[in-house]
Amino acid sequence: MKENIYSSSISRYYDKIILAGYYSLKSSAKELRKIFGEKKNILEVGIGTGLLAKEMVTLGYHISGIDFSKNMLNRAKKRLGKKSKFYLQDILELTLPEKYGGVYSEGGIWWFSREKKGLFLQSHLLTKHENLLALKKLSKVLENNGLLAINIQKKHKTSSDINIGGNLKYSQKVIDKGKYINKEYFVKSKKNIVAYQRSKFRRFKKNEEKDLFDKSGFRLIKINKNKHFIVLKKIK
Ligand SMILES: C[S@@+](CC[C@H](N)C(=O)[O-])C[C@H]1O[C@@H](n2cnc3c(N)ncnc32)[C@H](O)[C@@H]1O
Repeated sequence: MKENIYSSSISRYYDKIILAGYYSLKSSAKELRKIFGEKKNILEVGIGTGLLAKEMVTLGYHISGIDFSKNMLNRAKKRLGKKSKFYLQDILELTLPEKYGGVYSEGGIWWFSREKKGLFLQSHLLTKHENLLALKKLSKVLENNGLLAINIQKKHKTSSDINIGGNLKYSQKVIDKGKYINKEYFVKSKKNIVAYQRSKFRRFKKNEEKDLFDKSGFRLIKINKNKHFIVLKKIK
């Protein structure tokens, strides 16, 4: 299992970065409630520090989470305690003891990027093969007709010195190469860099995205561009 992102330094500041306005967690959770309804047993892939999972638990959902970063998962465990189940796993090696009515990814393994030409699937997994494998593994832990919700985010852009509280400033440098996106993150305290991370993402073309979902047995069922999630259904 690899852990190539979210080292201990960035995970220490992750909550501050997110809570400074990156996502609206409460509205995401309410939207997920509309999507999952009475399907109460839900899996989050790339649960991170459990910020959104906590909101889901508050709404009455039973949340299990996977993440391959021990640093992030330990923070989620502290936040949610015995209310949730945690698995230190790479999605490429996913094996879970139960099935779920729904799965969501909020910037976890996948997200959709809102761009001028539409919504584009992006992933922490860099090859088609890996993405197909991960989607097939996910399909196996979903009940029949189970739902997969993937969040929609603003296109990642370079930005500097965003105040995240406690004299800390967050900056990100994004180099968009079309098929791949390189992103560097920094947290500065006064003039010192206290956390640094580098990640690489994959962007899929619309035909590649369709192929991935078709081959892994998912069908798009709701595409509301003003909403925060795209919903797919397991069909085989
Ligand atoms: C941007 S964070 C999102 C965390 C959380 N969903 C949130 O909204 O705060 C992405 C998370 O996905 C995890 N992740 C990325 N690739 C993964 C993989 N192949 N298997 C398991 N977890 C992965 C990272 O370790 C990280 O914690």
